[in-house]
Amino acid sequence: MNDPRDSAEELSEVVEDLRRHLLWQEEAGGRELLVDAAKQAAERSASLRAIVTPRSTKPPAAPGRAASPEPAAPAEAPTTPSAAVPARARALEAPPSPAAAPRTPPTAPAPQLAPAASKGMLLDVPQQAPPYSGVLPGVVEGERPTLDQIRRELGDCQRCKLCTGRKNIVFGVGNPRAELVFVGEGPGEQEDLKGVPFVGPAGELLTKMIQAMGFSRDDVYICNVVKCRPPGNRNPEPDEITACEPFLRSQLLALQPKVIVALGKFAAQTLLRDSTPITRLRGQWREYQGVKLMPTFHPAYLLRSPQEKKKAWEDLQQVMKIFGRQPGSRS
Ligand code: URA
Repeated sequence: MNDPRDSAEELSEVVEDLRRHLLWQEEAGGRELLVDAAKQAAERSASLRAIVTPRSTKPPAAPGRAASPEPAAPAEAPTTPSAAVPARARALEAPPSPAAAPRTPPTAPAPQLAPAASKGMLLDVPQQAPPYSGVLPGVVEGERPTLDQIRRELGDCQRCKLCTGRKNIVFGVGNPRAELVFVGEGPGEQEDLKGVPFVGPAGELLTKMIQAMGFSRDDVYICNVVKCRPPGNRNPEPDEITACEPFLRSQLLALQPKVIVALGKFAAQTLLRDSTPITRLRGQWREYQGVKLMPTFHPAYLLRSPQEKKKAWEDLQQVMKIFGRQPGSRS
């Protein structure tokens, strides 16, 4: 039987989703050793490379609906003209200036939705995840891209409707050789203004969490599932996640970290293609393309539910073990 505390957490997440949705409506309506590390990096590289190589086999079927109101994991990125890939040569050019093109969001292809399996579902899981061909323009198949290449390819992105309201694209920040990567959900107001992830209140908490683990923000890399602020901090929508996901996956391919910490349900569910609620995903080691992935609570959730910080800290301590760190150690 489910732990009643899990149900309470899930309920709290639903309430938060609802709160953010209402806020958005209001806004819209009113206005290890180095040698080992090198070997492991090579191994990680081999398995991560799979994400930029088109799969010849079918991708795993979309996960079944979780018996919870959690948003479903988004569909795999379709190779559509909007997400797809213009010529390589173009990709290596500097991003067009914002004035160069009007911000008209494309009509994103709507994912096929399965009929609701039971009452109370907030979102539908895409029925069939189209094959993921994560090859970005400018990325030679089978080769590890650089973060700069990926940023250039992102350009003045207009692949989804979030481009209309953003002030800045929030690509990612930190050490391009980081062994530890944190993936959040999407920029908030402060991040949108500054173009840097996790610099608002949730960011302050994340910075403390990173420091408590014995790292600094400069040691690690921080990015988000979506690179543009959802209006009113509403949840990112499936088409927005689908449009942005190839860039996140390419960033992870470029970084080839040893560990990924997925902050909150959107990061965990997107990377894992698993719609299990974060309350059940957290604290359990998973694998993303051969890289260890630890799902944990999002810092914004921890700000609202400080009693949950203990669990998040337990999750982060598991990560610290991989790096041979004890609480309080700094090397
Ligand atoms: N929340 C996120 O998920 N990402 C940010 O960059 C800031 C807040």
